[in-house]
Amino acid sequence: MDIDRRELLLRTACALAATPGAVWAQAGTARTAEPPTQPDLHLELHAEAGEVPIRPGTPTRVWRYRGRLLRGDAGALETMPGSYLGPLIRVRRGQRVRIDLINALPESTIIHWHGLHVPDDMDGHPRFAIAPGARYAYEFTVRNRAGSYWFHPHPHGRTGAQVYAGLAGLFVVGDDEEAALGLPAGAQDIALVIQDRDFDGDNQFVYPGGDSGSPGMPGRGTMGGGMMGRGMMRGGMGSMMAAMMGVLGDQILVNGGAPAVREVSRRPHRLRLLNGANTRTLKLAWSDGSPLTVIGSDGGLLSGPVPRDYVMLAPAERVELWVDFGRRDAGSEVALRSLAFEAGADMGGMMGRGMMGRQGGLPDGAAFEVQRFRIDSGPAQPGVLPQALAPITPADPREAVNAAQPKVFQPTMGMMVWGINGESFDMLGASELETVKLGTQEVWEFRNEGRGSMMGMAMPHSMHVHGLQFRVLSRAVSRRHADGYATVSAGFVDDGWKDTVLVMPGERVRLLLRFEDYAGLFLYHCHMLEHEDSGLMRNYLVKA
Ligand code: C2O
Ligand code: CU
Repeated sequence: MDIDRRELLLRTACALAATPGAVWAQAGTARTAEPPTQPDLHLELHAEAGEVPIRPGTPTRVWRYRGRLLRGDAGALETMPGSYLGPLIRVRRGQRVRIDLINALPESTIIHWHGLHVPDDMDGHPRFAIAPGARYAYEFTVRNRAGSYWFHPHPHGRTGAQVYAGLAGLFVVGDDEEAALGLPAGAQDIALVIQDRDFDGDNQFVYPGGDSGSPGMPGRGTMGGGMMGRGMMRGGMGSMMAAMMGVLGDQILVNGGAPAVREVSRRPHRLRLLNGANTRTLKLAWSDGSPLTVIGSDGGLLSGPVPRDYVMLAPAERVELWVDFGRRDAGSEVALRSLAFEAGADMGGMMGRGMMGRQGGLPDGAAFEVQRFRIDSGPAQPGVLPQALAPITPADPREAVNAAQPKVFQPTMGMMVWGINGESFDMLGASELETVKLGTQEVWEFRNEGRGSMMGMAMPHSMHVHGLQFRVLSRAVSRRHADGYATVSAGFVDDGWKDTVLVMPGERVRLLLRFEDYAGLFLYHCHMLEHEDSGLMRNYLVKA
C-alpha cells in the first residue's frame, strides 16, 4: 500500500516536472525537502476576530480560525457551527497537506500542530510568529498514527491569551490500520473539547491582563519577558499572580458552548476528548460509576482497550473512549463528570484564590459535570469492541544512549518567572543538556519537587514535548505528596504513545524519547499555558 503510494507520488512528480506547473511547484516548496507535488489537501486558516452566541444575551467576542478548502476532499474541513473552535481537520496518514495561515489578528501569531511529527520549521515555534496581515505556508506529510491531534497558536508570551480568546481546533488523523477495526464512525464518532472560561456581566471572556476597554479581546500586555506590560500593570498584583499560577474559569464549555444534554443512538460510540483548558486538569468518570473503556491517548490507539475507574486529563492531553450506549435503556441518561482531586500541595490555604485575584469560583480539582448524554428510543444495536487495536512495540529504555543516567528537567520558579532547571525561555537557546543527536533515543525525567518554587509550593504541570511522540517508562512520588497523589494515581493512561504528560507535585516521571527524521530546534514546556507564557518553556536542539 505504502509502496504503491510512493510510486504514485513519484510518477506525479515526474509528470509535474514536464508541465509548466512545475515552475510554481518548485518555487512554492523551495523551503522544504518534500517532493514538489500538488498537496493532497490545501487549506487556508484565517485567524480573525468574530462573535459567537455562547450564553443568552450579548454574543461573545472571540478570536477564531476560519477555514477554507482550496484542494482535496470536502470532508477534510468540518466547521463547528456556532462555536469559536475549529475547524476540525480530517486527514489520512501519508497525505501531503499544505495549510496557509493568514493572520488577520491585531498581533503576531503562529500555529503549532500539537502532537504531529513534522520538521522544525513546520512546527509553529514562536520564532516563526508572523505579523498582522502576514501569511505562513505549512507543508508537510502526515506521518502520525491514526489519532486525535490538535492545533493552536504559539506566539511567545501570548499563547494563553490567544487560546483563551478561542483559537484552537482538532486535527484528526485516520489510517488503514484503524479503518480495519470498524470502530464507531460518522455520528457515532464524537469529539468533545473541554475548556473553562470566565465571563463578565456582558458575556465577554475575562482574561487577566486583558484590555478592559474590550474585555473579549486579550490586551497587549505580555506575560513572558515583559511581565510588567500594560495589561499586567492594569491588573496589578492579583492579575499577575493569577497569570503565573494559571487561569481557571468558572464556566465549563464543551466544544465552545455551555454543555447541553446530547442525544445519542443506542449503539457503540467513540468519544475523542481533548482537554483544551488553559490550566484546569480533569478527572473524568461516568456518573453511574461504570468504568471508562479507554482505546486511545495522545498518539492514537492503544494496543488494546484499557478499563479505568477514572482518567486524568491534563491540559493538551487527549483520550479516546469507547462506550456502548446500545447496552443502556432507551431514554436513560448518563454523564461524563470531572471528579474532585487534590490539585496541589499547599494551594488551598496560604495561596488562596483571593491572593490570586479571584474570589470563589471553581478551583482546580473541584468536581463538575462535563457532558450529559440521553440515550434515544431507537432499537438497541449493541456492539463488540475488538480486543486488539493497534500494535505498540514495548518501550525498551536500554535502547537509550543515556539509559544509565536520565536527563533531569525540573520546573522551577525564580523571581516571579517560571523556568526549567532555573532557566527561563530563550528564543534560540538550548543548553548542552538540551542538545540531542538525531537518530538516538534518550531517557528524560521530569521532576516536580517544587524546588525553587514560590514558597516551596508545588503544583501539577502538564509537560509537553514538540515534534514527537514519547513513551512513559515510570512514575514515582515522594512520601510527602503520597496522600494527594492517591487521589489521581489510578487515572493515568501511560500505555500508548504520548506527547503530553501530567507530572503531579512530588512526582518524577521518566520518558523514552526518540529523535528521528528531523534535526532542528523544538520546544518542550508546561502546557498550563500561563506557566508556559511566563517562562516554563525551553528549546531542545536535535543535531544531525
Ligand atoms: Cu500544544 Cu507547545 O504546545
Ligand atoms: Cu506548569
